[in-house]
Amino acid sequence: MHLMNTKHVTVTLLSALLLGQRYEKPSVVKGRTDVITVTPWLAPVIWEGTFNPALLDSIYKPQNVSIAATVFSVGKYTKFLKDFLETAEQHFFVGFNVRMYVFTDRPEEVPQVKMAAGRELIVRLVPSSNRWQEISARRMEIIQKLIEEELVDQIDYIFCLDVDSLFHARWGTESLGELVAVIHPGYFKSERRGLDYERRPASRACMAADEGDFYYCGGAFGGAVKDVHLLAKTCRENFEADAKENIEAIWQEESHLNRYMWLNKPSKLLSPEYLWQDMVPREPEIRVVRFSGIIKNYQDIRPNFSE
Ligand SMILES: *[C@@H]1O[C@H](CO)[C@@H](O)[C@H](O)[C@H]1NC(C)=O
Repeated sequence: MHLMNTKHVTVTLLSALLLGQRYEKPSVVKGRTDVITVTPWLAPVIWEGTFNPALLDSIYKPQNVSIAATVFSVGKYTKFLKDFLETAEQHFFVGFNVRMYVFTDRPEEVPQVKMAAGRELIVRLVPSSNRWQEISARRMEIIQKLIEEELVDQIDYIFCLDVDSLFHARWGTESLGELVAVIHPGYFKSERRGLDYERRPASRACMAADEGDFYYCGGAFGGAVKDVHLLAKTCRENFEADAKENIEAIWQEESHLNRYMWLNKPSKLLSPEYLWQDMVPREPEIRVVRFSGIIKNYQDIRPNFSE
């Protein structure tokens, strides 16, 4: 009991010290009005201008939070790793404990990237595959097992990210939450009927015409390890059950993730700043691009593009 109290007092003092850096009073009546900053189920939506990064870091720092990130780099996708890892060092949870897991079939091609103190690069071998759809589908299984075997009780949060992307600006503690989804940049102004969900009732990812909040990215999602474990396990089970009946959802795991997030509302949403696409023209609501998918030539990198 005594120990607990001492720790609590220390943490509080430390926070107070760090918060000693003054900051502008938040306004009750002024804020962003061009976008929603909270969903109808009262989850915050994170946009530039809605948070104070230094303040958030000073709250999370004393908790010594640890973050894992997974990135899959199979076949020719390994050529994206260097830029991904180097920009992650510059922008992704700088100053925090980070374990970056790279899953690859070409471990010898993983670049040597200098990691800052408290940050680790861990390379894991996965089998090659001839179908990118399969690579994508197996991600959920690997994430599920990783959490069960080594993250649970060791790591607080996990983010699962696409490798063919770059960090351009801060992605930090403002993104932490139990179940975190990124609003897809391609559909953020679309009506329900325009969202590219799986629509065939035979699939477990099916979304009816009157279902769906937002269209979320399969290329970036995360949350507390326990919550992401349930997400990965559920999506994997549904994907496999579909496969047994010879059906593959239109966007594979992304379709299943969207179904999951419809039934299990994310506790925090990240705006499309957190996964923009370099080929999509910038919209005025996007004041900063933090992470974006690079323009790529699928024919060069996907093993079965012509399929
Ligand atoms: C903070 O967490 C890291 C691992 O994430 C651990 O190695 C370190 O000992 C922890 N520090 C404190 C003060 O608890």
